[in-house]
Amino acid sequence: MLSSKMVAALNSQVKHELYSAYLYLAMSAWSDSQNLKGFAHWLRIQYIEEQDHAMKIFDFLLDNGAAAALQAIDQPPADFKSATQLFEDVLAHEKKVTALIHQLYAQAIDEKDYRTQIFLQWYVTEQIEEEADAQSIRDKLVAIGDKSTALFWIDKELKKREG
Ligand code: FEO
Repeated sequence: MLSSKMVAALNSQVKHELYSAYLYLAMSAWSDSQNLKGFAHWLRIQYIEEQDHAMKIFDFLLDNGAAAALQAIDQPPADFKSATQLFEDVLAHEKKVTALIHQLYAQAIDEKDYRTQIFLQWYVTEQIEEEADAQSIRDKLVAIGDKSTALFWIDKELKKREG
């Protein structure tokens, strides 16, 4: 049985993952408005992935007989300065999520909550990929700068993302 403190922390993480989805959807809309269709596509897939992250926790709560209590999700920003700034924001956001996952994992260790520890291992590993993907795109953008033909090459590359 999960502690009430752990149930509250997991419910809060559901909200953070849904906010991530919301943020990436807002970023996708902005990219589309800038005619960066590849960026929009990449971010829309990210939006779907974040919903999966939230739902895995939601199901874990239900499978453990705990209450899934949905919380209010903040409004994401609608405007972004540039494509480079967009991916600076993605990277910063993923680092924040990593810190939240690590905090949850530390709590599970403190509580000797073995099932939550095992469950969270998937997230610990997933965050390595989340940060690496964002870092790689951010680094390319920093290297080429905005408003260059290379930006459209990256846009084409991002369009190829399948999942
Ligand atoms: Fe669910 Fe991108 O972390």
